Amino acid sequence: MPRPITIHVCAACGHESARWAGRCPGCGEWNTLVEQLRPRGGAAGAGSERGRLAPGAVPLAPIALAEVDALEGERLSTGIGELDQVLGGGLVPGSLVLLGGAPGIGKSTLTTMALANLLAAGHRTLYVSAEESVAQLRLRAERLRGGRPLQIPVVAETDLDVVLATLAAQRPEVCVIDSVQTLHCAQLQSAAGSVAQVREAAERTARLAKAQRTAVLLVGHVTKDGGLAGPRVLEHLVDAVLQFEGERERTYRTLRAVKNRFGSTNQAGVFEMREDGLVEVLDASARFVSEATRAPGSVVLCAVEGSRPLLVEVQALVSRSELVPPRRIVTGFDRNRLALVLAVLGRHGGIGLGAADVFVNVVGGVRVEEPGADLAVALAVASAARRRPLRGTSGGPLACFGELGLTGELRGVAHAERREAEARRFGLEPVLGPERQRTLRAALEVAFAEQARPAIAA
Ligand code: TYD
Ligand code: MG
Repeated sequence: MPRPITIHVCAACGHESARWAGRCPGCGEWNTLVEQLRPRGGAAGAGSERGRLAPGAVPLAPIALAEVDALEGERLSTGIGELDQVLGGGLVPGSLVLLGGAPGIGKSTLTTMALANLLAAGHRTLYVSAEESVAQLRLRAERLRGGRPLQIPVVAETDLDVVLATLAAQRPEVCVIDSVQTLHCAQLQSAAGSVAQVREAAERTARLAKAQRTAVLLVGHVTKDGGLAGPRVLEHLVDAVLQFEGERERTYRTLRAVKNRFGSTNQAGVFEMREDGLVEVLDASARFVSEATRAPGSVVLCAVEGSRPLLVEVQALVSRSELVPPRRIVTGFDRNRLALVLAVLGRHGGIGLGAADVFVNVVGGVRVEEPGADLAVALAVASAARRRPLRGTSGGPLACFGELGLTGELRGVAHAERREAEARRFGLEPVLGPERQRTLRAALEVAFAEQARPAIAA
């Protein structure tokens, strides 16, 4: 019988076994065995082999960093300003960029548009679809404007070996692989999308990409709660990880870098999904502020996306509940965080909502994951509960930010100055937050006083 070419290694204790088992024979942990290709040269690198030097290995001569050629400035512009910026100035040849996001968020649209622009700029491109047929790709491309979407060379293939062979033969400057979870390596027994498959696909793609200086955009799905056998296992294998977020049914999407070996992770871009593709929203704050309703239950949050300030409207609705426990429905904000905010609001703000349904929505499909959003959620809920609109001194929406502590204090968050400056740019005053108010109670007093007596502060 030929020797199997894969082994199973326990992620917890490193035990190796020829066959997969639900429970590791080494340490007894469940579901820790992961399939791997058997390293060439027999033994899987265990025990006795480790200390020995391989016979053919030639030692390297280290050099000082000063003698190293700086990373060439060469960057390929995707023609999409926000994407280039998040990448740190465009795609680096030979790099592997993972673009993660929930299904339907617009990953294929974004990558198709980028390739269309690159193609129009005279670069060699290739779109590998392991998910959709070429006919489906065409359908999407027909909707898109800009670049030359219908001229993009495409192949539809799921077999990793075939995909890599195609890449090697075509030698594109930029290639999209959509998606890494649907690629399949025939030597591995596990199903496409498993940790072993995804890792193998990324590793081999990265090696080829570096060797022939192809910039690869690897698309990966993440589930709503962060993804299991998805992009998480890839983060250390790739040069950059971009996250594409938003609510699928809404128009706005944010793109941010979670990791970037060639730039900062402090960049974020905002896009709008239109009929004819994704459009960059150049001044998202202006858009969101002008759309803010100013009705009871509405406040403007001074958020920070990456290191860029962004004003977004947070809305809340409070209604008497028929249910036990009552409903807590939230979009764009963490559900557990809402529970915390409601608890603090009840205990330290005197607004008990134990018998009320509470709905909170960050408008436009923007997701705010920072604790700095706490105060905005609290004020929106308070405003909804009291059915009183919150206004700034000029009659505009009330702006705020800050984290809520469990004892009802307001805690400072990063980039306070930038947040305030952004609010001032739109004449939003005052900005409630930890810079001026110490506690939630103080913030509530100012918020409700301002709108009752707008003349005082004017
Ligand atoms: P898609 O890029 O296929 O998402 P993903 O690859 O992340 O799964 O597009 C997602 C949705 O966007 C799809 O439901 C249709 C919609 N869409 C538009 O609204 N306008 C467009 O121009 C395109 C191409 C898609
Ligand atoms: Mg897709």
